[in-house]
Amino acid sequence: MTVRIARVGVVGLGTMGAGIAEVFARAGLDVVGVERDDAALAAGRGHLDASTGRAVKRGKLTAEEQAALAGRIAFTTDLAALADADLVVEAVPERLDLKRDLFGRLDGIVRADAVLATNTSSLSVTEIGVAVSHPERVVGMHFFNPAPVQDLIEVVRTVVTGPEVADAVTELARRLGKTPVACGDRAGFVTNALLFGYLNRAAAMYESGHASREDIDAATTAGLGYPMGPLALLDLIGLDTAQEILATMYRQGRNRLHAPAPVLGELVTLGFLGRKSGRGFYDYSVDDGVGAGSAVVPPDAHRVRRVGFRDPASAGTLPDALAKAGHDVVLDGADVDVLVAPGDPETFARLGAEAGPGAVLVALGDGPVVAAAAASGRPADVVGLHLAGPSGAVAEVVRTVVSAPGAVDTVAGLATSAGLTTVVCADRAGFVVDALLVPYLNDAVTMLETGYASAADVDTAMRLGCRLPAGPFELLDGLGPAAALATLERLQAEVREPGLAPSPLLRQLATTGLRFADL
Ligand code: 3HC
Repeated sequence: MTVRIARVGVVGLGTMGAGIAEVFARAGLDVVGVERDDAALAAGRGHLDASTGRAVKRGKLTAEEQAALAGRIAFTTDLAALADADLVVEAVPERLDLKRDLFGRLDGIVRADAVLATNTSSLSVTEIGVAVSHPERVVGMHFFNPAPVQDLIEVVRTVVTGPEVADAVTELARRLGKTPVACGDRAGFVTNALLFGYLNRAAAMYESGHASREDIDAATTAGLGYPMGPLALLDLIGLDTAQEILATMYRQGRNRLHAPAPVLGELVTLGFLGRKSGRGFYDYSVDDGVGAGSAVVPPDAHRVRRVGFRDPASAGTLPDALAKAGHDVVLDGADVDVLVAPGDPETFARLGAEAGPGAVLVALGDGPVVAAAAASGRPADVVGLHLAGPSGAVAEVVRTVVSAPGAVDTVAGLATSAGLTTVVCADRAGFVVDALLVPYLNDAVTMLETGYASAADVDTAMRLGCRLPAGPFELLDGLGPAAALATLERLQAEVREPGLAPSPLLRQLATTGLRFADL
């Protein structure tokens, strides 16, 4: 059987469904958009108009093209209008009962050779497909938000999906100008399975007061070049959707790291669903939620006249940057306002006695800062500093439980005056950037190890699905598997979380000195 797709139906015109309908219409296909009632239909039409209107404003679409695109989409509340469709994609809320019921009804309406696709994010395509008399025509077609922008489509085959059905959807994805990645039917497929652990960790990090929402987001945008931080992304996805995806992933894998962070439930109960409701982690009536960072105003930076460095080579470009910013940078500890040194306890045992009484002592490195603070004999004066991210563009300013707030502000101000994106966080393994990044990298290695996806497919999926500058294996090779392993071991030693256990493959690469590109 050859499957030709020219007429498509989209059921559910929320954020994703409307975006999917737009993608089809942009590619010249005739689309029937179906919603449950007139109000939902009007809202769906509104999503589409807003999205194409924005493209017109940006000069990406002419008004004529916008009209032609709108003319290819018919809106209805009647499922029977799909009788003639070659493909129907459902994008109704992420509930198995809803999706199953819909597929059962569609089964009685569409032609016998029509393809039924679900845009589910994490539910089992197989379980949705059991409502259909011929489940070989059921496939997953998973788009990413915003659908017109993200270039990935995950094509999910169940064990019974007909090869010609998967092939037709794969070919269609290419016609839409997207890159298809083939996946098996596992919760979260490739992208969400890797993305949502990271997002959940960020939510938990915020909830525990480890760092502010702006700092968590700024750490990933400035440190890793991500287009948006995890909390802003959760707001874009929708906190209710995120909570459901995590709950499904948790049910399937029983990985505690996927149990939705309680703050998600709290915000959802309050009706704070993210951008779509105007408020989530961020309040969109007062900020744009892009996670621009708290942009620490350097309150005390000017008070800092002399900065001393022990082992300036370990501080990268920081001494130069501070000198350029107008500070006196010296190589000894006499008469300095701030003394920066490698953060090992031996060094700090000496430093405590050498530096003048008013000086702030900065423990440089990946911690734990509290060990240096304890050794110094003057722990309130000790603040950690870690230059994070591949380019060291993020200054993680680390407070221990006893760091004096004034000392933390001084170091934050100093880092900001050096042109770094400054984030303040608690003294926990991995601080912010590594604590978010490294477990995600380890999850990717586990995915590779189980044979679910190739390294190349994982990298493609993460780059295109979330517009990331690099996939996890590319990042791992840049960082070095041994460095990733060391961070993971520190994280695991701190929280004893089974889900953070290093993947055996990561250990092997760290031991042999090989990189993923060598495999
Ligand atoms: N609809 C249509 N187009 C949109 C859009 C929307 N909602 N939002 C942005 N765009 C377009 C803009 O028109 C612009 O297009 P152009 O380059 O052709 O002019 C382009 O996207 C960039 O937009 P902006 O300049 O306004 O803003 P940014 O550069 O900050 O990009 C972003 C915004 C596209 C949202 C970007 O931050 C991004 O890609 N973030 C990551 C999003 C992500 O990770 N998505 C995946 C989530 S997981 C998922 O969807 C799976 C599901 O199962 C939950």
